[in-house]
Amino acid sequence: MKGVHNILVALALLALASSLASAYDPSPLQDFCVALDDIKNGVFVNGKFCKDPKRVTANDFFFSGLNIPGNTGNAVGSNVTTVNVDTLPGLNTLGVSIVRIDFAPYGGLNPPHIHPRGTEVLVVLEGTLLVGFVSSNQDNNRLFTKVLNKGDVFVFPIGMIHFQLNIGKTPAVAFAGLSGQNPGVITIANATFGSDPPINPDVLTKAFMLDKNVVQYLQSKF
Ligand SMILES: *[C@@H]1O[C@H](CO)[C@@H](O)[C@H](O)[C@H]1NC(C)=O
Ligand SMILES: *[C@@H]1O[C@H](CO)[C@@H](O)[C@H](O)[C@H]1NC(C)=O
Repeated sequence: MKGVHNILVALALLALASSLASAYDPSPLQDFCVALDDIKNGVFVNGKFCKDPKRVTANDFFFSGLNIPGNTGNAVGSNVTTVNVDTLPGLNTLGVSIVRIDFAPYGGLNPPHIHPRGTEVLVVLEGTLLVGFVSSNQDNNRLFTKVLNKGDVFVFPIGMIHFQLNIGKTPAVAFAGLSGQNPGVITIANATFGSDPPINPDVLTKAFMLDKNVVQYLQSKF
C-alpha cells in the first residue's frame, strides 16, 4: 500500500513538473517570425510547412555524405558540414540536428561562436582539440575548458560562446549533435566586425577598448 502511495505521489509530482516545464511559448525555430494578419502574403510559418504524411518516404529522413571531410583550406583552418532541417527535411519539428567538423593540423580553429537555438554535444573521432565555453555575465564570464582526445565528449550549453582548436599535429574530426532542427550560428568576430552594413567604429572602439584604426582595419578584413 505504502509503495502504491509513493508511486502516486511521484506521478503527481511528475505531472506538475511537466506542466511547469511547458508553461511558456514554444522555442522559436528560426531567427524571427513577423506576425501577419492576412495569410495571403504568408511565406513561412515558424519552422517549415509540412509535407502530406501520406507522401513521406524513407528518403525524407535520410542524408548521405558525412563521411566526406570538409575542405579546411581557408583562413581559420576548419570546416563545418551541417545537416539541419534545410538539408534533411525529416528533422522538421524534432529538435535535433548534426554536424561534422574538420580541423586542419597545427591550429585549425572553429572560431568563437554561439548557437542561439541549440545546446551542442561534441565527440572527437580523430585528433586532439582544445575546447571551451564562457558562461554569461551573471556567472562572471567563467571559462570552462578541456583538452579532448579521440572518444572524448564535451557539451556546450545553449547560447554560450564556445570554440574548438586543433592542438595536434594531425587533422582532427569531430561530430556534434545539436538540440535544434536549425540551431543557427553567430560567429563573434564576423558578426561584430563584419556586419552588413558595418557597425559605427565608435561603438566597437569603445566596446573592445581598441584604437579606432585597429577597428577600421578589422572591419576591412571581414
Ligand atoms: C567546406 O568544405 C566544402 C567541401 O569541400 C567546400 O565546398 C566549402 O567551400 C568549405 N567551406 C569553407 C568555409 O571552407
Ligand atoms: C568570417 O569572415 C571571414 C573573412 O571574411 C570569412 O573568410 C569566413 O568565411 C567568415 N566565417 C563565417 C562563418 O561566415
